[in-house]
Amino acid sequence: MKPRLVSGIQPTGKLHIGNYVGALKNFVALQDSGKYDCFFFIADLHSMTEEFDPKEKSKQIEDVAFSYLAAGLDPKKSTIFLQSDIPEHTELAWILNTITPFGELRRMTQFKDKSESRPENINVGLFAYPVLMAADIILYDAKAVPVGEDQLQHTELTRTLARKFNARFGKTFEEPRPLLADVPRLMSLDDPLKKMSKSRPGGCLFLDDSPEEIREKIKRAVTDSGKNIICDPVNKPAVSNLLLLYSSISGISIGDLEKRYEEKGYAEFKSDLAETVVAALLPFQKKKRALKKSAVIAALVAGGKRAEKIAKEKMKEIRRKTGVCQ
Ligand code: AMP
Ligand code: TRP
Repeated sequence: MKPRLVSGIQPTGKLHIGNYVGALKNFVALQDSGKYDCFFFIADLHSMTEEFDPKEKSKQIEDVAFSYLAAGLDPKKSTIFLQSDIPEHTELAWILNTITPFGELRRMTQFKDKSESRPENINVGLFAYPVLMAADIILYDAKAVPVGEDQLQHTELTRTLARKFNARFGKTFEEPRPLLADVPRLMSLDDPLKKMSKSRPGGCLFLDDSPEEIREKIKRAVTDSGKNIICDPVNKPAVSNLLLLYSSISGISIGDLEKRYEEKGYAEFKSDLAETVVAALLPFQKKKRALKKSAVIAALVAGGKRAEKIAKEKMKEIRRKTGVCQ
Protein backbone atom coordinates (compact mmCIF):
# COMPACT_ATOMS: atom_id res chain seq x y z
CA MET A 1 0.00 0.00 0.00
CA LYS A 2 1.23 3.47 -0.88
CA PRO A 3 1.75 5.91 2.03
CA ARG A 4 -1.16 8.28 2.39
CA LEU A 5 -0.84 12.03 2.00
CA VAL A 6 -3.40 14.60 3.17
CA SER A 7 -3.68 18.34 2.63
CA GLY A 8 -6.27 21.07 2.33
CA ILE A 9 -6.80 24.69 1.43
CA GLN A 10 -9.32 27.03 3.05
CA PRO A 11 -12.01 28.59 0.88
CA THR A 12 -11.53 32.14 2.06
CA GLY A 13 -11.30 34.04 -1.22
CA LYS A 14 -9.22 34.03 -4.34
CA LEU A 15 -6.14 31.78 -4.39
CA HIS A 16 -2.83 33.57 -4.96
CA ILE A 17 0.41 32.48 -6.50
CA GLY A 18 1.85 31.84 -3.00
CA ASN A 19 -0.84 29.17 -2.51
CA TYR A 20 0.16 27.83 -5.91
CA VAL A 21 3.95 27.56 -5.51
CA GLY A 22 3.70 26.71 -1.80
CA ALA A 23 0.91 24.13 -2.01
CA LEU A 24 -1.22 23.49 -5.10
CA LYS A 25 1.62 23.01 -7.61
CA ASN A 26 3.22 20.58 -5.19
CA PHE A 27 -0.10 18.74 -4.68
CA VAL A 28 -0.22 18.05 -8.41
CA ALA A 29 3.43 16.96 -8.58
CA LEU A 30 2.96 14.61 -5.62
CA GLN A 31 -0.21 13.18 -7.13
CA ASP A 32 1.52 12.61 -10.48
CA SER A 33 4.60 11.06 -8.84
CA GLY A 34 2.37 8.04 -8.17
CA LYS A 35 4.16 7.53 -4.85
CA TYR A 36 1.26 8.45 -2.57
CA ASP A 37 -2.39 7.74 -1.94
CA CYS A 38 -3.42 11.40 -2.11
CA PHE A 39 -6.29 13.04 -0.21
CA PHE A 40 -7.00 16.71 -0.93
CA PHE A 41 -9.89 18.47 0.69
CA ILE A 42 -11.46 21.90 0.95
CA ALA A 43 -11.13 23.13 4.54
CA ASP A 44 -14.51 24.86 4.75
CA LEU A 45 -14.88 24.37 8.51
CA HIS A 46 -11.53 26.02 9.11
CA SER A 47 -12.58 28.93 6.94
CA MET A 48 -15.49 29.67 9.32
CA THR A 49 -12.97 31.00 11.84
CA GLU A 50 -12.63 34.06 9.56
CA GLU A 51 -15.37 36.66 9.11
CA PHE A 52 -17.58 35.58 6.17
CA ASP A 53 -20.79 36.22 4.32
CA PRO A 54 -22.92 33.04 4.21
CA LYS A 55 -24.09 33.99 0.72
CA GLU A 56 -20.48 33.98 -0.50
CA LYS A 57 -19.29 30.78 1.17
CA SER A 58 -20.62 28.27 -1.36
CA LYS A 59 -18.99 30.29 -4.16
CA GLN A 60 -15.68 30.30 -2.31
CA ILE A 61 -15.90 26.53 -1.81
CA GLU A 62 -16.72 26.08 -5.48
CA ASP A 63 -13.78 28.26 -6.45
CA VAL A 64 -11.27 26.07 -4.58
CA ALA A 65 -12.84 22.92 -6.06
CA PHE A 66 -12.58 24.36 -9.58
CA SER A 67 -9.01 25.49 -8.89
CA TYR A 68 -8.01 22.02 -7.66
CA LEU A 69 -9.20 20.39 -10.89
CA ALA A 70 -7.96 23.19 -13.15
CA ALA A 71 -4.47 22.95 -11.62
CA GLY A 72 -4.35 19.25 -12.46
CA LEU A 73 -5.71 17.37 -9.47
CA ASP A 74 -7.48 14.41 -10.96
CA PRO A 75 -10.36 12.61 -9.24
CA LYS A 76 -9.19 9.38 -10.86
CA LYS A 77 -5.83 9.66 -9.12
CA SER A 78 -6.65 11.55 -5.91
CA THR A 79 -9.44 11.59 -3.36
CA ILE A 80 -10.86 15.12 -3.51
CA PHE A 81 -13.55 16.09 -1.00
CA LEU A 82 -15.19 18.68 1.20
CA GLN A 83 -14.17 18.64 4.87
CA SER A 84 -17.68 19.29 6.20
CA ASP A 85 -19.04 16.28 4.27
CA ILE A 86 -17.15 14.05 6.70
CA PRO A 87 -18.42 14.72 10.26
CA GLU A 88 -15.72 12.43 11.68
CA HIS A 89 -13.25 15.33 11.31
CA THR A 90 -15.12 17.34 13.93
CA GLU A 91 -15.80 14.33 16.12
CA LEU A 92 -12.11 13.45 16.26
CA ALA A 93 -11.24 17.13 16.78
CA TRP A 94 -13.37 17.12 19.93
CA ILE A 95 -11.60 14.06 21.28
CA LEU A 96 -8.22 15.60 20.49
CA ASN A 97 -9.32 18.82 22.25
CA THR A 98 -9.43 16.82 25.46
CA ILE A 99 -5.75 15.88 25.21
CA THR A 100 -4.51 19.23 23.87
CA PRO A 101 -2.76 21.44 26.42
CA PHE A 102 -4.22 24.96 26.44
CA GLY A 103 -0.69 26.38 26.65
CA GLU A 104 0.38 24.69 23.39
CA LEU A 105 -2.45 26.34 21.46
CA ARG A 106 -1.78 29.70 23.04
CA ARG A 107 1.75 29.55 21.64
CA MET A 108 0.67 29.02 18.01
CA THR A 109 2.05 31.87 15.88
CA GLN A 110 -0.91 31.90 13.51
CA PHE A 111 -3.32 32.32 16.43
CA LYS A 112 -1.19 35.09 17.92
CA ASP A 113 -0.85 36.92 14.58
CA LYS A 114 -4.54 36.67 13.74
CA SER A 115 -5.62 37.70 17.26
CA GLU A 116 -3.40 40.75 17.02
CA SER A 117 -4.51 41.77 13.55
CA ARG A 118 -8.24 41.38 14.25
CA PRO A 119 -8.94 41.70 17.98
CA GLU A 120 -12.66 42.04 17.28
CA ASN A 121 -13.00 38.38 16.29
CA ILE A 122 -10.81 36.12 18.41
CA ASN A 123 -13.18 33.16 18.41
CA VAL A 124 -12.68 29.78 20.10
CA GLY A 125 -12.65 28.13 16.64
CA LEU A 126 -9.58 30.19 15.75
CA PHE A 127 -7.92 29.01 18.95
CA ALA A 128 -8.79 25.34 18.36
CA TYR A 129 -8.01 25.58 14.61
CA PRO A 130 -4.80 23.47 14.84
CA VAL A 131 -6.69 20.68 16.64
CA LEU A 132 -9.19 20.33 13.78
CA MET A 133 -6.24 20.37 11.39
CA ALA A 134 -4.60 17.54 13.35
CA ALA A 135 -7.87 15.58 13.13
CA ASP A 136 -8.04 16.17 9.34
CA ILE A 137 -4.65 14.54 8.99
CA ILE A 138 -4.48 11.68 11.47
CA LEU A 139 -8.04 10.49 10.78
CA TYR A 140 -6.67 9.12 7.49
CA ASP A 141 -3.38 7.77 8.90
CA ALA A 142 -1.53 10.21 6.67
CA LYS A 143 2.24 9.92 6.64
CA ALA A 144 2.85 13.13 4.70
CA VAL A 145 1.31 16.61 4.68
CA PRO A 146 2.31 18.99 1.87
CA VAL A 147 1.98 22.56 3.20
CA GLY A 148 3.63 25.96 3.10
CA GLU A 149 6.03 27.01 5.84
CA ASP A 150 3.32 28.84 7.81
CA GLN A 151 1.74 25.46 8.61
CA LEU A 152 4.86 23.78 10.03
CA GLN A 153 3.99 24.61 13.63
CA HIS A 154 0.53 23.10 13.12
CA THR A 155 1.94 19.90 11.63
CA GLU A 156 4.36 19.66 14.55
CA LEU A 157 1.40 19.92 16.94
CA THR A 158 -0.33 17.20 14.91
CA ARG A 159 2.62 14.90 15.57
CA THR A 160 2.55 15.75 19.26
CA LEU A 161 -1.19 14.99 19.52
CA ALA A 162 -0.84 11.70 17.63
CA ARG A 163 1.98 10.67 19.97
CA LYS A 164 0.02 11.73 23.03
CA PHE A 165 -3.10 9.85 21.97
CA ASN A 166 -1.05 6.74 21.20
CA ALA A 167 0.67 6.88 24.59
CA ARG A 168 -2.63 7.26 26.42
CA PHE A 169 -4.92 4.89 24.46
CA GLY A 170 -2.58 2.57 22.55
CA LYS A 171 -1.05 2.86 19.07
CA THR A 172 -3.76 4.32 16.84
CA PHE A 173 -2.26 7.09 14.71
CA GLU A 174 0.68 7.73 12.40
CA GLU A 175 2.93 10.69 13.19
CA PRO A 176 2.78 12.61 9.89
CA ARG A 177 5.64 14.59 8.40
CA PRO A 178 5.32 17.92 6.57
CA LEU A 179 6.46 18.09 2.92
CA LEU A 180 7.61 21.55 1.92
CA ALA A 181 7.44 22.81 -1.67
CA ASP A 182 10.38 24.51 -3.38
CA VAL A 183 8.98 27.92 -2.39
CA PRO A 184 7.48 27.29 1.05
CA ARG A 185 7.11 31.00 1.81
CA LEU A 186 6.55 33.37 -1.09
CA MET A 187 6.75 36.97 0.02
CA SER A 188 4.46 39.84 -0.88
CA LEU A 189 5.12 41.79 -4.09
CA ASP A 190 4.76 45.10 -2.27
CA ASP A 191 6.75 44.15 0.82
CA PRO A 192 9.32 41.35 0.59
CA LEU A 193 9.49 41.10 4.38
CA LYS A 194 5.84 40.02 4.64
CA LYS A 195 4.36 36.74 3.46
CA MET A 196 2.09 36.92 0.43
CA SER A 197 -1.33 36.60 2.01
CA LYS A 198 -4.99 37.08 1.17
CA SER A 199 -5.21 39.47 4.10
CA ARG A 200 -2.94 41.87 2.16
CA PRO A 201 -4.38 41.72 -1.39
CA GLY A 202 -2.19 44.60 -2.62
CA GLY A 203 0.86 42.31 -2.61
CA CYS A 204 -0.82 39.27 -4.18
CA LEU A 205 -0.81 37.87 -7.69
CA PHE A 206 -4.08 35.99 -7.92
CA LEU A 207 -4.40 32.86 -10.02
CA ASP A 208 -7.38 34.42 -11.81
CA ASP A 209 -5.66 37.75 -12.58
CA SER A 210 -5.73 38.78 -16.25
CA PRO A 211 -2.44 38.98 -18.21
CA GLU A 212 -2.67 42.79 -17.98
CA GLU A 213 -3.07 42.69 -14.20
CA ILE A 214 -0.15 40.26 -13.87
CA ARG A 215 2.11 42.45 -16.03
CA GLU A 216 1.12 45.57 -14.13
CA LYS A 217 1.59 43.99 -10.69
CA ILE A 218 5.01 42.55 -11.52
CA LYS A 219 6.08 45.85 -13.03
CA ARG A 220 5.10 47.62 -9.81
CA ALA A 221 6.66 44.96 -7.52
CA VAL A 222 9.22 46.52 -5.19
CA THR A 223 12.90 45.85 -5.87
CA ASP A 224 16.07 46.40 -3.84
CA SER A 225 18.81 48.96 -4.13
CA GLY A 226 21.64 48.01 -6.48
CA LYS A 227 21.22 46.63 -9.97
CA ASN A 228 22.35 43.02 -9.57
CA ILE A 229 19.83 40.29 -10.09
CA ILE A 230 21.07 37.73 -7.60
CA CYS A 231 19.53 35.54 -4.94
CA ASP A 232 20.58 37.00 -1.59
CA PRO A 233 17.55 36.89 0.72
CA VAL A 234 19.22 38.92 3.47
CA ASN A 235 20.50 41.86 1.43
CA LYS A 236 18.18 41.62 -1.57
CA PRO A 237 14.90 40.18 -0.29
CA ALA A 238 12.70 41.58 -3.05
CA VAL A 239 14.72 40.38 -6.04
CA SER A 240 15.41 37.05 -4.33
CA ASN A 241 11.67 36.55 -3.91
CA LEU A 242 11.04 37.29 -7.59
CA LEU A 243 13.85 34.91 -8.56
CA LEU A 244 12.34 32.14 -6.44
CA LEU A 245 8.96 32.68 -8.08
CA TYR A 246 10.53 32.74 -11.55
CA SER A 247 12.48 29.56 -10.88
CA SER A 248 9.50 27.71 -9.45
CA ILE A 249 7.22 28.62 -12.35
CA SER A 250 9.74 28.12 -15.15
CA GLY A 251 11.68 25.16 -13.77
CA ILE A 252 14.93 27.05 -14.54
CA SER A 253 17.42 26.92 -11.65
CA ILE A 254 18.21 30.08 -9.68
CA GLY A 255 21.86 29.83 -10.81
CA ASP A 256 20.87 29.77 -14.49
CA LEU A 257 18.52 32.70 -13.99
CA GLU A 258 21.28 34.70 -12.27
CA LYS A 259 23.56 34.02 -15.25
CA ARG A 260 20.84 34.91 -17.76
CA TYR A 261 20.26 38.34 -16.15
CA GLU A 262 23.89 39.11 -15.26
CA GLU A 263 24.17 41.98 -17.68
CA LYS A 264 20.51 42.93 -17.74
CA GLY A 265 18.30 45.31 -15.81
CA TYR A 266 15.20 44.94 -13.66
CA ALA A 267 12.89 46.03 -16.49
CA GLU A 268 13.82 43.11 -18.73
CA PHE A 269 13.88 40.66 -15.83
CA LYS A 270 10.43 41.71 -14.67
CA SER A 271 8.98 41.68 -18.15
CA ASP A 272 10.28 38.10 -18.75
CA LEU A 273 8.98 37.00 -15.35
CA ALA A 274 5.56 38.47 -16.12
CA GLU A 275 5.37 36.64 -19.46
CA THR A 276 6.43 33.39 -17.76
CA VAL A 277 3.71 33.75 -15.14
CA VAL A 278 1.10 34.70 -17.76
CA ALA A 279 2.01 31.67 -19.89
CA ALA A 280 1.97 29.35 -16.88
CA LEU A 281 -1.42 30.55 -15.66
CA LEU A 282 -3.14 30.60 -19.03
CA PRO A 283 -3.81 26.84 -19.26
CA PHE A 284 -5.04 26.86 -15.65
CA GLN A 285 -7.39 29.76 -16.32
CA LYS A 286 -8.68 28.23 -19.56
CA LYS A 287 -9.31 24.88 -17.93
CA LYS A 288 -11.05 26.54 -14.98
CA ARG A 289 -13.41 28.38 -17.31
CA ALA A 290 -14.15 25.25 -19.33
CA LEU A 291 -14.85 22.98 -16.35
CA LYS A 292 -18.45 21.96 -15.88
CA LYS A 293 -19.96 22.37 -12.45
CA SER A 294 -21.46 18.88 -12.72
CA ALA A 295 -17.98 17.37 -13.19
CA VAL A 296 -16.66 19.22 -10.15
CA ILE A 297 -19.60 18.08 -8.02
CA ALA A 298 -19.17 14.50 -9.25
CA ALA A 299 -15.50 14.60 -8.18
CA LEU A 300 -16.43 15.81 -4.69
CA VAL A 301 -19.17 13.20 -4.32
CA ALA A 302 -16.89 10.34 -5.37
CA GLY A 303 -14.05 11.62 -3.16
CA GLY A 304 -16.45 12.11 -0.27
CA LYS A 305 -17.60 8.49 -0.49
CA ARG A 306 -14.06 7.16 -0.37
CA ALA A 307 -13.03 9.49 2.47
CA GLU A 308 -16.19 8.66 4.43
CA LYS A 309 -15.53 4.95 4.32
CA ILE A 310 -12.02 5.33 5.71
CA ALA A 311 -13.03 7.96 8.26
CA LYS A 312 -15.94 5.86 9.58
CA GLU A 313 -13.75 2.81 10.08
CA LYS A 314 -11.02 4.79 11.79
CA MET A 315 -13.53 6.51 14.04
CA LYS A 316 -14.84 3.12 15.19
CA GLU A 317 -11.31 2.19 16.23
CA ILE A 318 -10.88 5.53 18.03
CA ARG A 319 -14.14 5.11 19.94
CA ARG A 320 -13.18 1.59 20.91
CA LYS A 321 -9.76 2.69 22.14
CA THR A 322 -11.15 5.57 24.23
CA GLY A 323 -13.95 3.43 25.65
CA VAL A 324 -16.49 6.16 24.77
CA CYS A 325 -19.54 5.81 22.44
CA GLN A 326 -18.66 2.30 21.31
P1 AMP B 1 -4.59 28.84 3.11
O1 AMP B 1 -5.04 29.72 2.02
O2 AMP B 1 -4.18 29.57 4.34
O3 AMP B 1 -5.55 27.70 3.35
O4 AMP B 1 -3.25 28.17 2.59
C1 AMP B 1 -3.23 27.12 1.66
C2 AMP B 1 -1.83 26.59 1.47
O5 AMP B 1 -1.00 27.58 0.84
C3 AMP B 1 -1.11 26.21 2.77
O6 AMP B 1 -0.37 25.02 2.57
C4 AMP B 1 -0.20 27.37 3.02
O7 AMP B 1 0.94 27.01 3.78
C5 AMP B 1 0.18 27.77 1.59
N1 AMP B 1 0.57 29.17 1.52
C6 AMP B 1 -0.21 30.24 1.85
N2 AMP B 1 0.47 31.40 1.63
C7 AMP B 1 1.69 31.05 1.16
C8 AMP B 1 2.84 31.79 0.75
N3 AMP B 1 2.88 33.12 0.78
N4 AMP B 1 3.92 31.08 0.30
C9 AMP B 1 3.91 29.73 0.26
N5 AMP B 1 2.85 28.98 0.63
C10 AMP B 1 1.76 29.61 1.08
N1 TRP C 1 -4.45 25.21 7.95
C1 TRP C 1 -4.20 25.04 6.55
C2 TRP C 1 -3.92 26.41 5.93
O1 TRP C 1 -4.33 27.41 6.38
C3 TRP C 1 -5.37 24.38 5.85
C4 TRP C 1 -5.60 23.03 6.39
C5 TRP C 1 -6.64 22.63 7.19
C6 TRP C 1 -4.76 21.89 6.22
N2 TRP C 1 -6.50 21.31 7.51
C7 TRP C 1 -5.37 20.83 6.93
C8 TRP C 1 -3.57 21.68 5.52
C9 TRP C 1 -4.80 19.55 6.97
C10 TRP C 1 -3.01 20.40 5.58
C11 TRP C 1 -3.62 19.34 6.28
O2 TRP C 1 -3.28 26.46 4.95
